[in-house]
Amino acid sequence: MSAAILASFEKVSTHMTFKKASWPRKLRSTEWYGGTSRDHIYHRSWMKNQGLPADLFDGRPVIGICNTWSELTPCNAHLRDLAQRVKHGIYEAGGLPVEFPVFSTGESSLRPSAMMYRNLASMDVEEALRANPLDGVVLMVGCDKTTPALLMGAASVDIPAIAVSGGPMLNGWFRGERVGSGTALWQMSEDVKAGNMSSDDFLEAEQAMSRSPGSCNTMGTASTMASMAEALGMALSGNAAIPAVDSRRRVMAHLTGRRIVDMVKDDLKPSDVLTREAFENAIRVNGAIGGSTNAVIHLLALAGRVGVDLTLDDWDRLGRDIPTIVNLMPSGRYLMEEFFYAGGLPVVIRRLGEAGLLHRDALTVSGRGVWNEVREVKNWNEDVILPVERALTGQGGIAVLKGNLAPQGAVLKPSAASPHLLTHRGRAVVFEDIDDYKARINDDALDVDETCVMVMKNCGPRGYPGMAEVGNMGLPPKVLKKGIKDMVRISDARMSGTAYGTVILHTSPEAAVGGPLAIVRSGDMIEIDVPGRRLHLDVPDEEIASRLARWQSPVKAPESGYARLFHTHVQGADTGADFDFLKGQRGKAVPRDSH
Ligand code: FES
Repeated sequence: MSAAILASFEKVSTHMTFKKASWPRKLRSTEWYGGTSRDHIYHRSWMKNQGLPADLFDGRPVIGICNTWSELTPCNAHLRDLAQRVKHGIYEAGGLPVEFPVFSTGESSLRPSAMMYRNLASMDVEEALRANPLDGVVLMVGCDKTTPALLMGAASVDIPAIAVSGGPMLNGWFRGERVGSGTALWQMSEDVKAGNMSSDDFLEAEQAMSRSPGSCNTMGTASTMASMAEALGMALSGNAAIPAVDSRRRVMAHLTGRRIVDMVKDDLKPSDVLTREAFENAIRVNGAIGGSTNAVIHLLALAGRVGVDLTLDDWDRLGRDIPTIVNLMPSGRYLMEEFFYAGGLPVVIRRLGEAGLLHRDALTVSGRGVWNEVREVKNWNEDVILPVERALTGQGGIAVLKGNLAPQGAVLKPSAASPHLLTHRGRAVVFEDIDDYKARINDDALDVDETCVMVMKNCGPRGYPGMAEVGNMGLPPKVLKKGIKDMVRISDARMSGTAYGTVILHTSPEAAVGGPLAIVRSGDMIEIDVPGRRLHLDVPDEEIASRLARWQSPVKAPESGYARLFHTHVQGADTGADFDFLKGQRGKAVPRDSH
């Protein structure tokens, strides 16, 4: 954390003296605690069984600490400890902290996909915030989906909210080389398939990849979403990159706890921060950091919650000419630890501001414009945060391709793709779904070479519930053995933010609802023109129409439970894969007391 950022925190801290008399309005929590009726006594008395002194119910703000801690979400397993630091800050500033758990979406374990549960977690957050006596909330986030889920839930209720991330793991090291979370896993598994690495070595690398608590240490989805939270203004400046085990992560948690109390005082809500300008800033930041394609889906969904009309076209337009200057895996060389030492995200935001690519006045949770937070920061390592002349790519944003194969759009991350494949025509090799892919990919009889375009269907939001991160299909062994590292791949799936390759994702509409992807056949020719933003199936229109007329969805609606709710209500990837009934804000109305 730079001296400038610390100084800025201290400036914030001086505004934090809590004076009961200074509360300008009635707090929401007084509906529960602020009186002498039977119900007020009922609400307070049961809380007091936790040993809370009476004066903690004197009208001070009640601050929720919404925690995604779980041992089943290893990236967030340290968040209970961090929550204690948040509590210190809240108490210090004059609030009453109350920690509560919400559904935790662990990326590495949840099946069929963590993404299937993002909306469920957001509903959990939303209802917990609305139903409880909370005046504000600190969102404890880390692993991929936990950040968007909590932001979405808080945005729907629109009480003062601030995020603090758990922070990334320390660098992984294996035999003198950096091993990045996820990225190394994909690389090494391909090396094993190609015969360039032994299985024993792969097993030895397993522990080396994950040396400490924290989230993935690459610029994967977790780091991207932590950066998005900061760029949107929903976390304090400097939050994204501090390693999980660095003492400054605890300082960040402490200061976040202090800050939320003042946010309640000022009634600074998500709707004040999550403006169109904030989303535009975040899209540009995503280009500059070489962020995950998953950010596209999550920001579209979040924008939907606050009524900002954000579209895929905004992603393409705003990110198109943004150079990727953060030299982190999977696009570059370093890891989050080094990004932090170099100055972290504030340096990147400052660069955008200097280039005239930032809405400088966009409000942040600090109560000040984003430019105020970053204007004095310095870059301490120009190999990690590169000068524009040495950018990884001049076009770091997300490319949105459209055409008869993706009428509503598909996305590609140019910074992770092979330049020679960005314009390509190739023969389709089609897999009907993930099982078909797994059954045939290792078969040397598969009719495929490096000029082909691998196509996988039925992995969109409904096809593979939640839209699993399988879009970066591993290459066939017979291609890998030739030393080939990349091929064009197209699907309606997502891709891990830690992955790389010329991978076209989120093809919309998805195959399972009858998008044109559903009728592609092996042997069809496909044209990819990333500079022209075109994705074309070279099959006559009449033939496409005829195939679509005969198409039947292979995906059946689940009979019951959350899976059925998901199937029935999930929207397409092109609008964020949120539920139709969760769009927009539903406010913080106090529910009627049942006693
Ligand atoms: Fe949790 Fe990557 S798997 S952050």
